[in-house]
Amino acid sequence: MSANVTVRHRCRVCDSHRLYSFLDLGEMPPANAFLDKPSGQESFPLEAVVCEDCDHVQLRHTVDPELLFGEYHYFSSASAPMSEHFDAYADAVDDRYLDTDPFVVEIGSNDGVLLSQFPDRVGVLGVEPAANVAEAARERGVETLVEFFGSDVGARIRDNYGRADAILANNVVGHIDDLHGLMTGVDTLLASQGVFVVEVPYLVDTVANNQFDQIYHEHLSYFSVRSFQRLAEQFDMRVVDVERQSVHGGTIRVHIQRQAAGRSPTRMVRDLETLELALGLDGREAYDEFAHRVDRTRTGITKLFDRLKTGDVTIVGYGATAKGNVLLNYCDIGPETLAYILDTTPAKQGTYSPGMHVPVREPAVFYEDPPEYAVLLAWNYRDAILRNEAEREFRKAGGQFVLPIPAVDII
Ligand code: TYD
Ligand code: ZN
Repeated sequence: MSANVTVRHRCRVCDSHRLYSFLDLGEMPPANAFLDKPSGQESFPLEAVVCEDCDHVQLRHTVDPELLFGEYHYFSSASAPMSEHFDAYADAVDDRYLDTDPFVVEIGSNDGVLLSQFPDRVGVLGVEPAANVAEAARERGVETLVEFFGSDVGARIRDNYGRADAILANNVVGHIDDLHGLMTGVDTLLASQGVFVVEVPYLVDTVANNQFDQIYHEHLSYFSVRSFQRLAEQFDMRVVDVERQSVHGGTIRVHIQRQAAGRSPTRMVRDLETLELALGLDGREAYDEFAHRVDRTRTGITKLFDRLKTGDVTIVGYGATAKGNVLLNYCDIGPETLAYILDTTPAKQGTYSPGMHVPVREPAVFYEDPPEYAVLLAWNYRDAILRNEAEREFRKAGGQFVLPIPAVDII
């Protein structure tokens, strides 16, 4: 196998070797590896497993993070609907946890959009491994270290800046192979009454809503509340609260504190634990059923496009998302079906989608010469996109959106 990938034989949360494989999406290139030219690129296996001891869902393989995150095309601020989410997020952390002279560290701070929402009295520091993205944060005035967060970096920040009252990790913990290294770093850096707030896509939503396209090499872990409980307790911490959020198709915001901080878990923590067990996420069957649904979805999507293509129509992709690339690669949909994918991110425009080589264009192309169909590859922004004036015009003029997830549909 390639030197750029390693096979995990042990659970990232509990170190068990009892990993049950339930979904194989085949080999594909990294989902964010947009290409300057439509040329060959390395593919890696994409296989999901569940730990039969702690029920943590994760990938069998780890692709070298330098290869995935060194030069990154994902800018948090590129998706307008997220700015509201980040604004409310910063307020919530500030109201609940921050006092006088507070210090907040964000792991995987991307272009600094969340940290920039905190008021001036809050000291903030970002940690972001992608140099090009960190540069955008600095331009925004957010001090940012270009690093992968782990125990060493946690210790260095503590020595240079002091302990953190809040450590935030937004859509990044699932990207970290060494979860114990992460937690050691958090343990080193976190103040005694501090909080570690994590947002991740929620396994319950991923499974219940057939979101197989969330499964890609960057996402090494698919968390439940129970996974976080198992992880936290190994560091004398506990999950004290959980909130469900609608972003990214269903997210949980998990609040973790030291056990010594003395807070007891809210009822929501116990309720979601109960829900996860009721849904059978502690057994094989729920995962086997999910895998069957994924296979049927591919058949449905493939058939729909085969039929649509027989007419004299143009079909495009809407949103050059990582998840969209999983979907296109898994369903084998390329430029013979999609004329282009439109995306608001300048760094993605003019590139080709990984694996399938569909050109990525700026949205103006779509508005100036509307196609018959737009496949909503950014289905997580469905409501916001459909509300846009220009998209309402597109539909009024006869254009249609094809929705791939949770089930193939035309709207
Ligand atoms: P996102 O769904 O956040 O992520 P992922 O890549 O993790 O699957 O990415 C949304 C992409 O869609 C991003 O590249 C910006 C683009 N986008 C648009 O082009 N138009 C829009 O109206 C919105 C909301 C997003
Ligand atoms: Zn485990």
